[in-house]
Amino acid sequence: MDTHIFQNKDFSAAYQKGMFLVSEKVNHLVLSYLEEKKGKPFELAIDAGCGTGISTRMLAPYFQKVIGIDMSESQLSEARKMTSQKNIHYQISKAEKMPVDDSSVDLLHSALAAHWFDPEMFAQETARVLKPGGCLALQSASVVFEIRYNDCTEKLSRIFSEAIKKLLENDKHVADILKSQYEDIFRAIPFLDKKRITDIQETFLVTVPDIMDLIRAVCLYHTFLEQDKEKAVEFLQDLEKSFFSVLGESASDTRLELNVKFFCLLASKA
Ligand SMILES: C[S@@+](CC[C@H](N)C(=O)[O-])C[C@H]1O[C@@H](n2cnc3c(N)ncnc32)[C@H](O)[C@@H]1O
Repeated sequence: MDTHIFQNKDFSAAYQKGMFLVSEKVNHLVLSYLEEKKGKPFELAIDAGCGTGISTRMLAPYFQKVIGIDMSESQLSEARKMTSQKNIHYQISKAEKMPVDDSSVDLLHSALAAHWFDPEMFAQETARVLKPGGCLALQSASVVFEIRYNDCTEKLSRIFSEAIKKLLENDKHVADILKSQYEDIFRAIPFLDKKRITDIQETFLVTVPDIMDLIRAVCLYHTFLEQDKEKAVEFLQDLEKSFFSVLGESASDTRLELNVKFFCLLASKA
């Protein structure tokens, strides 16, 4: 899988600026699951594919130490700029070979990233690093979105869904993994105690400029830019125009409800 875009500073700056898809509800589910399966104390969490550290910072208050690992230095550089918690450490590393001892991790977490990992290698590494009773939690947004606003919901949702579909065409492999909601990874996890929770709905209040920044933060948009810059720029301009044609030209500050369905894979080592 081609992941070189993640090393690009422009991508990381756009990611830091535009990404807001983080779910409090999923975070709560993950922590409750860990409490049930392993119990306290929560000593060490790993956030694999931590990117600019959004989910790493969310975990920090609950653990003695959190290590955010990512294969991209430009992502980690943004994460370090944004992080003040003293119990967070960032380290460059692949998720398939983590810089920790065997049976040392309470929670292995990953948000919006596991679709880039090698499922078999990551599953083996999970079994190596987790403590007995330790948990794996992988979460992502699904590819189903809805934008609600007065009587424009259907039109706005259709415009956004078409845009997402177009972006997913830039990497069919990743698109399939997301559409299957991590079926292959789920199968590869060598624990009996595992489950997938789907359709966890979160609502974000956003403006059209927020949505445009979100698209600019998506790796698949940067793949598109690399493949055909002119078409990618035109795609964004057309998307913005379509939103304003529905909402009216002066709707930049209008608050829309972006409904996102998250899914989460949970597993616990015996
Ligand atoms: C879409 S970002 C998600 C970042 C963050 N977890 C969040 O929720 O915003 C995906 C991240 O996974 C990282 N990544 C992709 N494949 C990886 C791998 N095999 N090992 C470690 N990091 C990886 C990328 O560098 C990128 O920062």
